[in-house]
Amino acid sequence: MSVRILGIESSCDETAAAVVADGREILSSVVASQIDIHRKYGGVVPELASREHLRRIVPVVREAMEQAKMGLADLDAIGVTQGPGLVGSLLVGITYGKTLAESLGKPLVPVNHLEGHIHAVFLEAHKSQTSPALPALCLIVSGGHTVLYQVQPKDSSRTDAGGLWSYRKIGQTRDDAAGEAYDKVSKLLGLGYPGGPILDRLAAAAGNIPAPVKFGPTKMRGNTFDFSFSGLKTAVLYHARENPEYLPEIAEREAAIARGERKFEQLLPLCGPKTLGLVREFQNAVVRDLVERTMRAAEALNVPTVLVSGGVAANRQLRATFEDRAHKAGRNAYFPSHALSTDNAAMIAAAAYPRFQNHILADISLNASASLPIA
Ligand code: KG4
Ligand code: ZN
Repeated sequence: MSVRILGIESSCDETAAAVVADGREILSSVVASQIDIHRKYGGVVPELASREHLRRIVPVVREAMEQAKMGLADLDAIGVTQGPGLVGSLLVGITYGKTLAESLGKPLVPVNHLEGHIHAVFLEAHKSQTSPALPALCLIVSGGHTVLYQVQPKDSSRTDAGGLWSYRKIGQTRDDAAGEAYDKVSKLLGLGYPGGPILDRLAAAAGNIPAPVKFGPTKMRGNTFDFSFSGLKTAVLYHARENPEYLPEIAEREAAIARGERKFEQLLPLCGPKTLGLVREFQNAVVRDLVERTMRAAEALNVPTVLVSGGVAANRQLRATFEDRAHKAGRNAYFPSHALSTDNAAMIAAAAYPRFQNHILADISLNASASLPIA
């Protein structure tokens, strides 16, 4: 009989619930995105996020149970994101998870959101009957995080889905997360929120247009596996300010977005060659830094596997560059599908499985932790 865990995720701006069997097989996964609510503010507004989680959590869990064709009584445990994330948002999922666990008499498993992102890669690999070899280096790159972890089994004789892993932080951003840089650059170019998906497509559309500016690699003192993106964002801002020809276009795009015309096909005709070139150079710089540092760290640690997860892992150029570099270096790179890259609850249920198997449970005193370390 399989172990079926309901995962609940509410750390940022997606309310999500999913049922996963044995930490590997997704029986259901429901994600209610709040993007339309936060869009007009150009980022996630914490107060609005928690209010929306409150509104969505019950129907989202109900739908996940319906899709899995199960009743709550059939569950073996409930896994819930404890952190890191927005405290007000986390508390909604935690309170609901605690209430369900208490009333059903089921175990409650506290899960670290970042550990969830790492498990997302394994969930995806399982679909194609592959299993990334450990130790691995995992780059988690999203709107809230840019961090590199070395992942290995705690007990080398237990490499199955039920075994616990240990994590060592190898590098992290010292300022903005990569996704945050995408979102800020998109906003300053009048391309709306979130920035990643639209900039990804515009950069591809730029082709070989001459570069209006070039951004060199970011130099890091101290830990050279750390990242930094705020300087790049500021360089884009200064370049756009110093070249007044960008301004009329930015205003046109802002007006289009205010009218609700935010599709790629609607925005592309409003982007001149200089804008397309600028977007491509920005993306080249982000991708170069993410890939270079990660692959240098993989080499230094001599790990066979590179995992990339989080919202920015959906970026096509990032994926292609990682695959190419990893192949040349004789390593394997793995990514989740788009749906498993961005925040979801299947990854939380998957990360809960080894914890449940090893009796790492929470009681009614479980609290949210905005900066929960991964352990
Ligand atoms: O993982 P996620 O859904 O939420 C956070 O935990 O932040 O990631 C959202 C972030 C946003 O910053 C968004 O702009 C970025 O991921 N993103 C992308 C792409 N799709 C989403 N960045 C670059 N290229 C993409 N295709
Ligand atoms: Zn996330």
